[in-house]
Amino acid sequence: MSYLMSNYAPLEVTFIKGEGCYLTDTKGDKYLDALSGVGVVGLGHCHPSITKAIQTQAAELLHTSNWYHIQHQEVLAEKLCNLSNMDNAFFANSGAEANEAAIKIARLHAHANHIDNPVILSAKQSFHGRTMATLSATGNEKVQVGFSPLVSEFIHIDFNDISAIKAHTSNKNIVAIMLEPIQGESGVIVPADDYLNQVQAICQANDWLLILDEVQTGIGRTGKLFAYQYNDITPDVLTLAKGLGNGVPIGACLAKGKAAALFTLGTHGSTFGGNPLACKTALSVLDTIEKDKILDNVVQMGEYLVANLQSKLTTNKVVEIRSKGLMIAIQLNQDCTELLNAALKKKLLINITGRSIRLLPPLIINQVEADNIINTLDELLSIL
Ligand SMILES: Cc1ncc(COP(=O)(O)O)c(C=O)c1O
Repeated sequence: MSYLMSNYAPLEVTFIKGEGCYLTDTKGDKYLDALSGVGVVGLGHCHPSITKAIQTQAAELLHTSNWYHIQHQEVLAEKLCNLSNMDNAFFANSGAEANEAAIKIARLHAHANHIDNPVILSAKQSFHGRTMATLSATGNEKVQVGFSPLVSEFIHIDFNDISAIKAHTSNKNIVAIMLEPIQGESGVIVPADDYLNQVQAICQANDWLLILDEVQTGIGRTGKLFAYQYNDITPDVLTLAKGLGNGVPIGACLAKGKAAALFTLGTHGSTFGGNPLACKTALSVLDTIEKDKILDNVVQMGEYLVANLQSKLTTNKVVEIRSKGLMIAIQLNQDCTELLNAALKKKLLINITGRSIRLLPPLIINQVEADNIINTLDELLSIL
């Protein structure tokens, strides 16, 4: 009997140690982690600089409260805003909470414009979290089933389809559009190059906020610090989590321009959000990404992995490979759920999303580790 409430269905393995791209289980067996704790541990497990920052901060001060100034939080907000061209930041503890803050900003934007029943456009097959508002924003019924009534203000439109957005421009209740720049949980769906440019133009023409959920794509995962930097835009609201703390929980909601002025004193808050430990860790993550030129490695290893997956996975079961940086999905022409356990037996950690194998390896991955992933996947595909 387990004392844990059900959530995910865990694989039959327990990890007790991690170093770089590898995890070690209770039996002492080592696994290559091509998933990074679902895009979290970008700098690898127990990166020495991050461990040192955590240890030093833990010995100094873990938590005070947002009732007092927090030095590292102020420095982190300034750093993130400078890096992203945003104006200010709110800190939370997870991606869903960062998105909750974004949705609350959209409501304040609505009420400032005397719109009483605000609607936010979000995309089909999107994923924004598991709280009531964020699962309502999520365009996937599996996440929503059993939890009705949902928060009613979301209309789900086709992703990567500008006409689907334009079809709603006459709806005066729409106040924002919330999108992942690349859809992660639904299998690395990469939109057309100018999609976000066009979305922003529609938002500006209609006074809608552009909310970009970069919980998964942010902090270097795609080869830029933020995926929207592949476009010629700055969102009104930007949400981050996952890679920002390299495993220490932290979420952030950044805002720009009019969106940055909507939270006023007392309108939103968090007990833990932005505490000294989380912020010091995030500062150390950003410093390490810069110092170790991690973005260059993401671009280089992303190209290496995709080129070699394309040339070495010769089976006709592969339909296409979708990717941006180290966000990679290998779409097959058949169900491949069984590969999850088969990969585990071969000491490789992957994710299966629909008919795709999804890879989110640490951003520090090297060529030997990339070759190991490619060769193991090649062997796995032969057993399908
Ligand atoms: C794009 C995106 N948004 C939000 C979330 C939710 O983040 P969290 O699980 O930290 O609440 C996720 C998690 O996978 C995500 O991929």
